[in-house]
Amino acid sequence: MSSNLNDQVSTNVVWHNATVTRVRREEQNGHRGAIIWFTGLSGSGKSTLAHAVEESLHQQGRRTFVLDGDNVRHGLCGDLGFSDKGHQENIRRIGEVAKLFMEAGVIVLTAFISPYRADRNRVRGMVYQNDFVEVCCDTPIEICETRDVKGLYKKARAGEIAEFTGISSPYEKPENAELVLNTGAVSLDVCVQEVVSKIISIGILDKTRLIQDFEVEMQLQDNGMQP
Ligand code: ADX
Repeated sequence: MSSNLNDQVSTNVVWHNATVTRVRREEQNGHRGAIIWFTGLSGSGKSTLAHAVEESLHQQGRRTFVLDGDNVRHGLCGDLGFSDKGHQENIRRIGEVAKLFMEAGVIVLTAFISPYRADRNRVRGMVYQNDFVEVCCDTPIEICETRDVKGLYKKARAGEIAEFTGISSPYEKPENAELVLNTGAVSLDVCVQEVVSKIISIGILDKTRLIQDFEVEMQLQDNGMQP
């Protein structure tokens, strides 16, 4: 048995097509799956907003799940640090997990600093257009630092945390986010409304779109192609 996990990468693996497809799951749910990707500094309100949007969607009977940075770093990504490579691998794993949730027909809301544009865009590139909705929680660092809910900015300023995003490690704002919210100036309720409106305008909750997609999928299958 190999002692190193990376000794042998996954070779000789063959994709197995599901008969219960994404579109069939979406049909059952009555809405599309999607990834709503919240990005922003620590303390910018990503988690609060993601959970509040989830609450609103859940109350409307939608299938949802929040993937939260701090929580995921307790388990799936507990072996990763905050170096460039740590962030990159963190976002790569989250992107893959979010995609699985989406294919299960779920509206998955991710709340990760995700400081690097390239890492976020890599996830965007893994899915179809309109599957990925980037929401930038654009709260000035001064406000995040004043809030300092977890006391981490204080520690970072004191040099007790190395490579802290926004202080000693960069944060790259999105250039083409679907939504930019100043979560420092706009109320939580209004931010929730803005996100939900964006989800609606993109057609994620639109049932008629599902039927069109279903027909396209059936055609692709008839032609022996992968949807
Ligand atoms: S990400 O940058 O790789 O996307 P993620 O969102 O998973 O980060 O985790 C960020 C959380 O980890 C922050 O909210 C903060 O509580 C904590 N944290 C601990 N150390 C750091 C650090 N050096 N930089 C940023 N966040 C940190």
